[in-house]
Formats: sequence, structure tokens, C-alpha cells
Amino acid sequence: MEPVEIAAGKYQLRPWTERDVDAARVALTDPEIMRWRAPRPPGEQHPGPEEWLTRRIGFWAEGIHACFIVMDAVSGEVLGDVSVQHIDRTCHTAEIGYWVMPKARGAGVATEAAKIASRWAFGALGLHRLTLVHAVGNPGSCRVAQRAGFALEGVMREASPNRDGIGYHDEHLHALIVTDPVP
Ligand SMILES: CC(C)(COP(=O)(O)OP(=O)(O)OC[C@H]1O[C@@H](n2cnc3c(N)ncnc32)[C@H](O)[C@@H]1OP(=O)(O)O)[C@@H](O)C(=O)NCCC(=O)NCCS
Repeated sequence: MEPVEIAAGKYQLRPWTERDVDAARVALTDPEIMRWRAPRPPGEQHPGPEEWLTRRIGFWAEGIHACFIVMDAVSGEVLGDVSVQHIDRTCHTAEIGYWVMPKARGAGVATEAAKIASRWAFGALGLHRLTLVHAVGNPGSCRVAQRAGFALEGVMREASPNRDGIGYHDEHLHALIVTDPVP
């Protein structure tokens, strides 16, 4: 899959590059972003910023994960990240994921980024259904999902291990179908 940029009013979505190492470092040391990241296999550390960027840039070529920086279109400031991941061109599905830089939170960035990425996934990729999964204990992400039009479909019981390695937590499954009304 060829990396693309998306111009969307006050936001610009663009692929990550090696030059974004400072933004990657801020994100990877933010306790809230780290708290909700996908768990690593036992004994495997989270990658540092350089390795994380290399992987993120490489995802495009694999064709199953489009990951964008969410940028202020005027200032160029990095506001966050939005991903269309687990792209399945047979079933026409994918999953939306996001996080926002600490200083950019509370201004609608995640909601808009999810909407922009969804429009692109339905249009450019021709997908039919997008899912969005978050921990039940992350009410901010639940609100973003609802504001972006992703209906709550249910609770996935004990779907993800706790970060301390002890026990599991429930997750919400939200989804948006291409024919759903977008708020
Ligand atoms: C959760 C997160 C993505 C929200 O991003 P954001 O850009 O601040 O969200 P928005 O400004 O678009 O907010 C949308 C709605 O969610 C609400 N919201 C945002 N953060 C919230 C929080 N921590 N608790 C409760 N509600 C919250 C907002 O008030 C707003 O609701 P409203 O429309 O009723 O006013 C951001 O705080 C973040 O990156 N957190 C750390 C990583 C993370 O949780 N990623 C998601 C993993 S699934």
C-alpha cells in the first residue's frame, strides 16, 4: 500500500517519517498512551522511538496497517496518531486506533481523526465495517468512539491482559458500518 496524505480542513494526516523522532519520544514516555498500548509478548520490551518509527513506516508496505500522524494543518504541530489497522480486504474490515499528544487533548482531535480516517478507509480502501476497541476503564476513548459514530456493540469480557501482568480487563467493542449515519 502506498503511503498517502489526507488534507482535512484544520487537520492534515500524513505518514510518520524518521524525522518525527521527538514526537515519538514524547508519545512513548506518556503514561496514558503507554497505559493503553497493546501488550508485548512475555519478556519483550516496548521498542524505543527509532525502532517504533521504523516499524510504523514499514507497516504501509505490508498493506495491513495505515498509520498517520495527525498534524495541525497550519502550524505543522504533531497532535497525535490515528491508525487503520488489521486491514482485511477479503472481509472488507479494519480497526481504528488513536492517541493524542498530552498537550493537544480535550480539543476534539481524536474525534476528528477517527472520522477522517474512517472516511478514508471506506472511500479509498473500499472497506465496509470498521471496529474500535477500548478498555472499559478508558471512558475518554468510549466518548471519542461515540462522537465519531461508532455504535457500542457489546462488552468483550476479559479480552486483554492487565499491564501489571495480573489478570485481565473487559473491553468495549464499537463498530461503524459504511451505511451508518456519521455524526
Ligand atoms: C482518550 C484520548 C484519545 C481522547 O483524545 P481527545 O482528542 O482529547 O478527545 P476529544 O477531544 O476528541 O474528546 C471527545 C469526547 O471525549 C471526552 N473525553 C476526552 N477525554 C476524556 C477523558 N479522559 N475522560 C472522559 N471523557 C473524555 C471529551 O470531553 C469529549 O466529550 P464531549 O464531546 O461530550 O465533550 C486521549 O486522551 C488519549 O490519547 N489518551 C491516551 C491514549 C488512549 O487512551 N488512547 C486510546 C486507546 S483505545
